[in-house]
Amino acid sequence: MNEGRPERARFSSAANRDVPLAGPGEFRPLALGSLRVWPPVVLAPMAGVTNYPFRALCRGFGAGLFVSEMITARGFLMGNSRTILLASSRADESPRSVQIYSSDPVDIGEMVARLVDQGVHHVDLNLGCPVPKVTASGGGSAIPVKPKLMARLVRAMAKRANGVPVTVKVRKGIDDSLLTFRDAGRVASEEGASAIGLHARTAAQLYHGEADWNAIGELKSAVSIPVLGNGDIWEAFDALRMMRATGCDGVIVGRGCLGRPWLFRELADVFGDASSGLGGREPGPPPRLGEIAGIMRRHAAALAEFFGEKVGVQQMRKWTSWYTKGFPGSAALRDRLHRIETLADLDALLAVLDPDAEFPESALRVSRAKGGRTQRVSLPHGYLAQRDDDTPPRSPHSLAEIEAWERALNSG
Ligand SMILES: Cc1cc2nc3c(=O)[nH]c(=O)nc-3n(C[C@H](O)[C@H](O)[C@H](O)COP(=O)(O)O)c2cc1C
Repeated sequence: MNEGRPERARFSSAANRDVPLAGPGEFRPLALGSLRVWPPVVLAPMAGVTNYPFRALCRGFGAGLFVSEMITARGFLMGNSRTILLASSRADESPRSVQIYSSDPVDIGEMVARLVDQGVHHVDLNLGCPVPKVTASGGGSAIPVKPKLMARLVRAMAKRANGVPVTVKVRKGIDDSLLTFRDAGRVASEEGASAIGLHARTAAQLYHGEADWNAIGELKSAVSIPVLGNGDIWEAFDALRMMRATGCDGVIVGRGCLGRPWLFRELADVFGDASSGLGGREPGPPPRLGEIAGIMRRHAAALAEFFGEKVGVQQMRKWTSWYTKGFPGSAALRDRLHRIETLADLDALLAVLDPDAEFPESALRVSRAKGGRTQRVSLPHGYLAQRDDDTPPRSPHSLAEIEAWERALNSG
């Protein structure tokens, strides 16, 4: 079936070679309250990743909704300078979307109100964080275990949002014996969330194994609000497959775009232009290494501009591995790339890459961040005996506590 698609045969995995492009009118823009998102594609909130420079880079390739990394409400409300920087945006970013991390309804309400005052167009609440320090204190993915507590948090958001759409992002549950996504879907729709995003893995799974798209389909048939499917969108055609298989209203793209921001161009291609009524078009081949080096330079310059050269270049180190993953000879260079201190150091190393090297198919579906381990999820002592309780867990309050907390969140 793919004789007419020689490029697709070379640059996609077997599962996607024969997937039809979006047909005219097959998919609708994602509706989050009054916000319309086309293509129905969301950049996943990712700590240490989806800061303004990376969101702008992704947006330059395609379109959709590009969510900030999780921002701790306490740090934001106390004016912690790093938290404020991570939550910040520039005038060219629209729609602007921020993910909040907190388990305190008062903080959540206050932060939503401030973000809305700043002109934010969408706010998401992180209810899926699997980091041990977080779940052990009853936060993150432990919250949906207590539906009444989750209800308080979503209500607090919706109440202060002044019509700006608020959404939640959850995991399937704690582990296979404690699935919480069905309750979470019910609570989200009852309490005024405009959509629910489901990362179709449990907290115990972390990032291991295949995401369970069946759970996304099940959630979609159970709730009336839009469902965003998340997990294993490595190639643009995965998004079409997920939406067709599950009926979900949009997709959230996580690790697939790390070092591959052009994935958003490919997504825009396969979905096509909603307003013209035309269907999708075949994406071109991925960039060769020379073009990727140019993207890396732009990314590094943007990080340096945003964080200052020292911190920006330090941040760029991990990206150099992600961008060059799988290219012949890149492993040998990686050690030096990980020691760059200036933009000039980066330039000197990029100059030795082979500009004609083709993107390796083997690098399409590999996780560039987070290992394959699993975990036993820590919950507070006696937590499961009080599932009907809606008391918020204690949140960090002093600046030192907040900084320790943010370090733990970023380590997960
Ligand atoms: C480096 C990294 C940081 C992440 N940080 C967050 C975060 O801040 N908030 C959140 O809700 N999920 C976070 N996640 C989870 C992603 O949003 C997404 O749910 C997960 O990666 C699954 O999607 P994928 O299979 O497409 O990668 C993070 C994931 C990664 C890889």
